[in-house]
Amino acid sequence: MTRILFVCLGNICRSPLVEAVAREEFARAGVVAEFASAGTGTYHVGHAADPRTIASAAAHGYDVSAHRARQLDIADFARFDAVLGMDQANLRNIQALCPARYASRTGLLLAYAGVAAPIDVPDPYFGGADGFERVIELARAGVHGLIARCAKDA
Ligand code: 4NP
Repeated sequence: MTRILFVCLGNICRSPLVEAVAREEFARAGVVAEFASAGTGTYHVGHAADPRTIASAAAHGYDVSAHRARQLDIADFARFDAVLGMDQANLRNIQALCPARYASRTGLLLAYAGVAAPIDVPDPYFGGADGFERVIELARAGVHGLIARCAKDA
């Protein structure tokens, strides 16, 4: 069983969307894995996903309605096989918390997306609906790469 934790800043926009995309796309591909998401910040702990996150997920057939934001915890590094940041700032914060023995579990989602993709999933929080569409597009690219990797390891 592979366990993957997706991490952004607030855990109300990017990482819940990626978690929902991963759950759905892995199930469609018949690859078994477990997913969760967390934020490096505390601002939105306990909150539901941003209404724009919920709307764009639903428009593409993904469901984030049960999501509640939580903060990344040091115990997550033992619990998850991979702890993947959405951008390089997330990854720096992840690595600052990560015990040295688990360092190889940390990385960026889009490292799995193929060479043509950007490195960062841009933060859509302060922008418009198009930013959320872009998150879904990049989420699918990263998740399909993860499916290929997990299927190969299985
Ligand atoms: P996320 O987006 O990291 O993709 O969940 C953000 C959500 C909230 C804030 C920043 C980014 N904020 O500053 O409150």
